[in-house]
Amino acid sequence: MSTLSVAEAVSVAVVETSIQSLREYYLRFAQLEAADSSPIYAEWARGVAADEEVLRLLLTLPQPKRQANLLFAAARLLGAGVGEYPALHAWLLSHWEETRQTMLDRSTQTNEAGRCAVLLPVLASITEPIALIEVGASAGLCLYPDRYSYHYLIDGRTVAVHPASGPSPVALECTLANTEPPERMPDVAWRAGLDLNPIDITDEDQQGWLQTLIWPEQQARRERLAAAAALVAGDPPRLEAGDLFDDVESLMAQAPAHTQLVVFHSAVLAYAEAEKRDRFPDLVQSHPEALWISNEGRKVLPGISAQVSGPDDGRFVLSVNGDPIALTGPHGQSFEKL
Ligand SMILES: C[S@@+](CC[C@H](N)C(=O)[O-])C[C@H]1O[C@@H](n2cnc3c(N)ncnc32)[C@H](O)[C@@H]1O
Repeated sequence: MSTLSVAEAVSVAVVETSIQSLREYYLRFAQLEAADSSPIYAEWARGVAADEEVLRLLLTLPQPKRQANLLFAAARLLGAGVGEYPALHAWLLSHWEETRQTMLDRSTQTNEAGRCAVLLPVLASITEPIALIEVGASAGLCLYPDRYSYHYLIDGRTVAVHPASGPSPVALECTLANTEPPERMPDVAWRAGLDLNPIDITDEDQQGWLQTLIWPEQQARRERLAAAAALVAGDPPRLEAGDLFDDVESLMAQAPAHTQLVVFHSAVLAYAEAEKRDRFPDLVQSHPEALWISNEGRKVLPGISAQVSGPDDGRFVLSVNGDPIALTGPHGQSFEKL
């Protein structure tokens, strides 16, 4: 299974100092990340890997800005189209300055509401009102697990779970294994997000960037994003600008009394330096009653992944307070209870 999220996780960790290592990164991206889910990006990445001129241009950017996702999204945002690589090569050479500036100004902040489908089984098991904090929230679309409808596919049947007010305009599909669908919606009494760069979902330009970050072939994801964005824009979340390591404690301290505090992150910790990641659970657990939910790629928190057997097939590990409980599709498309 190969997805945008896995690519993000790989890309952000990449440190490319030479043309050769950048070439190898683009080849790896083509083979391991894009091959299954985006033939267009796979061909583009192979094209970049073989294109000394474009590789040299990329080397003028700071290391974290050389990601394939960022390059390709910036080019599409600026009108490169989705033709074959020779057309992209010509386009990049004639639009390099604006592409470069876009790559410097923006970052890969894909927000996937679909991930709520794998959080729901945990959240729905909490009977108290929940104070929900997401770190690395992007536009905060995952802060609304109680506002979406879910279609859980299990053993050839589909079980729908709806908000108390009835079916939502946003319906998320998820295949379940080894467990039954949740029978109730969580009661989210308070919600807040933290991000280095919170995205204002009511802002057309920012929403357009989120749309462009979705790979060209993934039309269903674009439709899901548009539906979730419309829903959330009607009642935007509280999103604070801050670093999850420095600022989560002060946000936790603001959670109302008589709630179960839940702090979660999904497709986020790969962005942090590996040596720092283990500090995060300690920060959350400094609050005596906080529940910590992590939904991250297999390589991101090795201490948790070591408890999971079988090869890394690209799925995330969903854990609660450090105990792995499921392998999940990186966009929330599947939940296999461990
Ligand atoms: C790939 S997006 C995932 C967004 C959302 N969690 C989801 O699942 O759709 C990762 C987000 O984490 C944020 N992020 C990365 N490092 C962070 C940090 N140290 N503190 C706060 N946010 C961070 C990025 O700005 C980005 O918006």
